[in-house]
Amino acid sequence: MPTAVVTGATAGIGAAFARQLAAEGFELVLVARRGERLSALAAELPVPVEVLVADLATTAGCDAVAARLTDPDRPVDLLVNNAGRSLNRSFLRSTPELEEELLRLNVHAVLRLTLAALPPMVERRRGEIINVSSVSGFAATMPGSTYPATKAWVTNFSESQAQLVREHGVRVMALCPGYTRTEFHEVAGIDMAHSPAWVWLDADTVVRAALRDLRRGRLVSVPGWINRVAVFGMRHAPRRLLHRVARDARGRIGHEEQ
Ligand SMILES: NC(=O)c1ccc[n+]([C@@H]2O[C@H](COP(=O)([O-])OP(=O)(O)OC[C@H]3O[C@@H](n4cnc5c(N)ncnc54)[C@H](OP(=O)(O)O)[C@@H]3O)[C@@H](O)[C@H]2O)c1
Repeated sequence: MPTAVVTGATAGIGAAFARQLAAEGFELVLVARRGERLSALAAELPVPVEVLVADLATTAGCDAVAARLTDPDRPVDLLVNNAGRSLNRSFLRSTPELEEELLRLNVHAVLRLTLAALPPMVERRRGEIINVSSVSGFAATMPGSTYPATKAWVTNFSESQAQLVREHGVRVMALCPGYTRTEFHEVAGIDMAHSPAWVWLDADTVVRAALRDLRRGRLVSVPGWINRVAVFGMRHAPRRLLHRVARDARGRIGHEEQ
């Protein structure tokens, strides 16, 4: 049986990855901070599951997962770097601690775990990595927020590594979801009550599209045609227009005022 490591598997997109990969017959290593929720998910899945409780915003947490990824006796076929969060705080009122924690989770953990997983995959000429990024990383879509900048890094980094390793039989893909119904906005304290229903996808749809795109050899996956139109706009619309749309959207979706 192939083995997949999924970070941030207690909720949302990570839990959906765990369920769909289990249905495909993957053995799983599930990573997050809340051990009880990981164990409850493990108990409902029809495959062997290893629970690895780790805080990926810490060096110790990243080291523990990196050690599992480099264990020569238990090779990993698929790594899903999914754990991530946003902040709902004006940069002007933010703190070094909050911003550094965001960078450690959204950027440093992705770098560290990819660097652990890739060399053994290249050596075996087999392996896949999905780094969960975001549509928001294609432009400065949330005035004052550092979250899109972290996701711009994830997309660029993943595309870059994908080109390096594909001739070795290894795939890396950035998954860029748009608004997805998970615990993400509640955790960040972002009120989405006034967002239109048509912008949302559910986590299962996002994960199905991601696995399909990975197998098609895509380097960047953007699930849902509305999100693909949005990305096209972010890449090609005049910056001034984008900035006006971003400011209007910010007022509507309950971000903290600047
Ligand atoms: N939902 C959206 O609209 C959306 C859109 C674009 C991109 N994304 C991206 O999708 C990914 C998954 O988010 P989601 O929407 O599924 O959010 P979610 O429902 O809030 O799940 C986040 C997961 O990350 C884990 N996590 C958070 N901090 C962690 C830490 N320090 N160490 C280890 N695990 C940690 C959480 O588990 P514990 O709390 O148990 O640690 C949880 O399993 C993120 O990278 C996010 O940026 C989401």
